[in-house]
Amino acid sequence: MNLILFGPPGSGKGTQAERLREKQGLRHISTGDLLREAVARGTDLGNRVKSILASGQLVSDDIILALMREEIARTAKGWLLDGFPRTVGQAKGLDAQLDELGQKIDALVVLNVGRDAVIERLSGRRTCSNCKTVFHVKVNRPKVEGICDRCGGTLVQREDDKPGTIAKRLDVYEAQTQPILDHYRGRVPIHEFDGEQPVDEVTRSIERVLQ
Ligand code: AP5
Repeated sequence: MNLILFGPPGSGKGTQAERLREKQGLRHISTGDLLREAVARGTDLGNRVKSILASGQLVSDDIILALMREEIARTAKGWLLDGFPRTVGQAKGLDAQLDELGQKIDALVVLNVGRDAVIERLSGRRTCSNCKTVFHVKVNRPKVEGICDRCGGTLVQREDDKPGTIAKRLDVYEAQTQPILDHYRGRVPIHEFDGEQPVDEVTRSIERVLQ
């Protein structure tokens, strides 16, 4: 099965992707994680995108499409795309790549979350610097403060989770990413979920639909 997880920043895409990956046996491909890894390793790509990520703007379609072409081509089993496509240009580029590879998108899983909830979530998010597991200081707390339950790594706040940058990312999402839904409507099944429900409830709702 090939799925796209879709929704605003902080809607829970990464959180749900981890659960679906384990249960459905899919490969979770997050463009945000790939870009942050490149920044952390100080690669050419990382140096080119570092300031763009910190500002909440989008990396160019050319860079993202080149990155994702390789990732999708080397994924034999099903995939779960998180944070991609993010513009109509990227969606069209993905469609062309999938045609070449003889693959297709089985469904879009859309998580709907309002602006206030996003701001609350992202300002409290903490991410494991080692395995990337996501926590929240109030609703999804680690057993030991500042330490990852899964691997014992240190929890950190993302550079782009500062209030001014969160607002910018939401504006970019509304202007450039939301129109993708119209691009896929009528061509790919679109399943929408209330992403403001508790994490387990959202997972159960998605699994019911995907069965
Ligand atoms: P990216 O890493 O993709 O960030 P994003 O889309 O902004 O999404 P987030 O990772 O912030 O949130 P999420 O939906 O995964 O939520 P999470 O599960 O963590 O992109 C970052 C940047 O990279 C972009 O701004 C851009 O610069 C660049 N980039 C990436 N892809 C690109 C592309 N394709 N093109 C161009 N540029 C690109 O949850 C958030 C918090 O909420 C957590 O603390 C979690 O514990 C909590 N939470 C989750 N679910 C619930 C729930 N149901 N109830 C209560 N709390 C919850």
